[in-house]
Amino acid sequence: MLFSLRLLPIVAMSVSAVVIPSPPGQYDVFYNTAKMIEKTRVDPFDPKNGSRAVMTSIFAPTHCKVDLEKINYLPPQQPNTTPTYIAQWDFPTGRSTCPEPPKGRHLQFPVVVFSPALGTTRLFYNAIAQAVASAGYIVVSIDHPYDAEFLEFPDGSIVTAANITDAQVPLDVNTRARDVSFVLDQLSTKAGVAALLPRTGAAGLKTRRVAMYGHSVGGAAAAEAMRLDCRVVAGANLDGSMFGPVVQQGVRGPFLLFGHENKTQTTDPSWAEFWSNLRGWKLELELAQAQHYAFSDLSYLMKLLGVPVQNVPAMQKMVGNLDVAKAFEIVHRTVTAFLGFGLRQASSAPLEEVISQYPEVSVFAEGK
Ligand SMILES: *[C@@H]1O[C@H](CO)[C@@H](O)[C@H](O)[C@H]1NC(C)=O
Ligand SMILES: *[C@@H]1O[C@H](CO)[C@@H](O)[C@H](O)[C@H]1NC(C)=O
Ligand SMILES: *[C@@H]1O[C@H](CO)[C@@H](O)[C@H](O)[C@H]1NC(C)=O
Repeated sequence: MLFSLRLLPIVAMSVSAVVIPSPPGQYDVFYNTAKMIEKTRVDPFDPKNGSRAVMTSIFAPTHCKVDLEKINYLPPQQPNTTPTYIAQWDFPTGRSTCPEPPKGRHLQFPVVVFSPALGTTRLFYNAIAQAVASAGYIVVSIDHPYDAEFLEFPDGSIVTAANITDAQVPLDVNTRARDVSFVLDQLSTKAGVAALLPRTGAAGLKTRRVAMYGHSVGGAAAAEAMRLDCRVVAGANLDGSMFGPVVQQGVRGPFLLFGHENKTQTTDPSWAEFWSNLRGWKLELELAQAQHYAFSDLSYLMKLLGVPVQNVPAMQKMVGNLDVAKAFEIVHRTVTAFLGFGLRQASSAPLEEVISQYPEVSVFAEGK
């Protein structure tokens, strides 16, 4: 039931200097990363009972006044510690970002949190996050240590996966949700914002009403974060089963469930129960021809690398048969339109308009 990138096939590729196209929205995007340490919380997965520490990335919309900079899709890794699934790939290098952090009114954009799949680095969702940010959202993605297969902090220290068991997943989901609350606390302070947005002098971002989307266990964490933290007012779960008390308790705000082909509340009992307990606007979508990792950047990266997914059967099993560029576009446009509804507009009509443009997307259930 749970997927992990440990299953990712080893694909040797030697395509170089593949450039990632500029994001589709009207804004340029500033990118930065920071470690955030919660001194008062013991990490439940750390055998040494250390303080919980997470890695974050920010994608902040801005109108860039200087030349855009091309940065690597993934940061350079230390050769001896690079997991094989990263080492074997020659990832695209040119991701266009603005080297200057946003100022003034651009610091007022709504905040959106992203949480990745179990075992999967947040970095494999950079292109989707950047596309969402370019539409006018400050996206902050989080890597959860001991869950991510491999997490490197800025000082070079590394935390590898604790190999979370099925029985530990509810604790993992709860821990992720608490990570979200901590990151929101940080983003509401001058020092916390300065870590991600240096030189802006911002007193804090607008964290009183935020939204969250997540892939797989990250989507379950979006629901759990809504349950535990009233600042999270809307949530989207991309293809993740639900875990923990939120299945019975539900949430009140708008919630989107978006599954791959045949992952619906008919096939996933956790979705059926969660759905019946949702007390606000709700929508369940199904993406035809897609598999679990169609909701990450992987299929898009294959496209940019010029490798037909059909030529790599193990990869095809992970992302499905949907046209890979289409999958990327559908996911970021649907998420962006949902966020617009959850944070900005009273009407879900723009979201419905986006969905109607893609025959691959079907409405499995809707309710209010
Ligand atoms: C961590 O905390 C647990 C529970 O309190 C305790 O049993 C264990 O000995 C602690 N481990 C270390 C290394 O301090
Ligand atoms: C997790 O699994 C990997 C791969 O099987 C292994 O190398 C690693 O030691 C395991 N980690 C722990 C904490 O058990
Ligand atoms: C979805 O279910 C239908 C009907 O059972 C089946 O024909 C189809 O192959 C399934 N699709 C996938 C991707 O498993």
